[in-house]
Amino acid sequence: MAVPYADLQLQYQSIKGEIDAAIAGVIGDNAFIRGSYVDAFECEFAAAAEVAHCVSCANGTDALYLAMRALKVKPGDEVITTAHSWISTAAMITHSGATVVFCDTDEATFTIDPAAIEAAITPRTVGIIPVHLYGQPADMDAIMAIAQKHKLWVIEDCAQAHLARYKGRMVGTFGEAATYSFYPGKNLGAMGDAGAVVTNDAALAEQMAMLARHGGLVKHQHHIEGINSRLDGMQAAILSAKLPHLAAWTAARQAAAEVYDAGLNQIEDVVVPEVAPARSHVYHLYTIRHPRRDALAAHLNANGVQTAINYPTALPFLPAYARFDHRPEQFLNAHRDQGRILSLPMFAEITRQQQDEVIELIRKF
Ligand SMILES: Cc1ncc(COP(=O)(O)O)c(C=O)c1O
Repeated sequence: MAVPYADLQLQYQSIKGEIDAAIAGVIGDNAFIRGSYVDAFECEFAAAAEVAHCVSCANGTDALYLAMRALKVKPGDEVITTAHSWISTAAMITHSGATVVFCDTDEATFTIDPAAIEAAITPRTVGIIPVHLYGQPADMDAIMAIAQKHKLWVIEDCAQAHLARYKGRMVGTFGEAATYSFYPGKNLGAMGDAGAVVTNDAALAEQMAMLARHGGLVKHQHHIEGINSRLDGMQAAILSAKLPHLAAWTAARQAAAEVYDAGLNQIEDVVVPEVAPARSHVYHLYTIRHPRRDALAAHLNANGVQTAINYPTALPFLPAYARFDHRPEQFLNAHRDQGRILSLPMFAEITRQQQDEVIELIRKF
């Protein structure tokens, strides 16, 4: 039996009527760029994310850029982030004018290690970007305590963590702002690129909205120099159609993770994802560790099971950051993990039979 890594068609088929009607509505109303569908989605997503303001934009990468520009990041500033993430998190620090400072991850959860943050702070540090990686919240109490002590802003990268909670509180509500990606494969995914930045600060929201829309909210009134990072109506309508299903899809991912946990945690050499106390994990990815990762991946792939490595090279060791001359011993956990992580098939519609197949193949290996 072939088991795909993810299956976007299944989700579409399950709500085809709603999606098709949403797209037809946008075309009928000529509401292609911004407009009522975008306004509606911003309100709906702000409510779902438990924040006052949602500023939609073109993708989750731009969301990070908009947040940092609005927080007035400038050359010479240092921004701390995790060594283990998608490159957007780090690249947008550079593009906003600051210098990226990487921290190692905590051994258990793959998220940034608060002790490493404390050690990385200098007089030039202005902010911290924790990433709720794979769908598990970073240690927000410890991170916010450090931020308050050193008067730093915090932007939470929630691209992989829609609806995840830390001690009952929604991710994205701790820092000054939080960014989301609605890339098609995300837990809430559009049918193209889409993103948002959320905040409880009205002035910051206005600044980010202006930056995303050529520097002004009213046509021809450019108060600052912005960029073009608008959400289009089609994506907004699709996201509005999907949003009411997100809680159920999240619960289905969590149930699938329990099946994997139970089936895999007795198998020698397999380390299942550990969830720290009082954190809810929304399993954008279900990522195990294995000492012979490449051979295991080859075995699964040869038997029809798709897998992925998120990510094959930790950020400090990418050619893009060769200028820093980072050494493995500076990021021991992230460096070790890049050679042993493997993401297994995970999507809301995955069947018990498919999961049993994956588990059995890993057991045989
Ligand atoms: C952690 C993280 N940050 C940022 C992004 C960027 O989002 P996008 O692909 O929508 O630009 C992604 C997803 O790709 C991500 O996984």
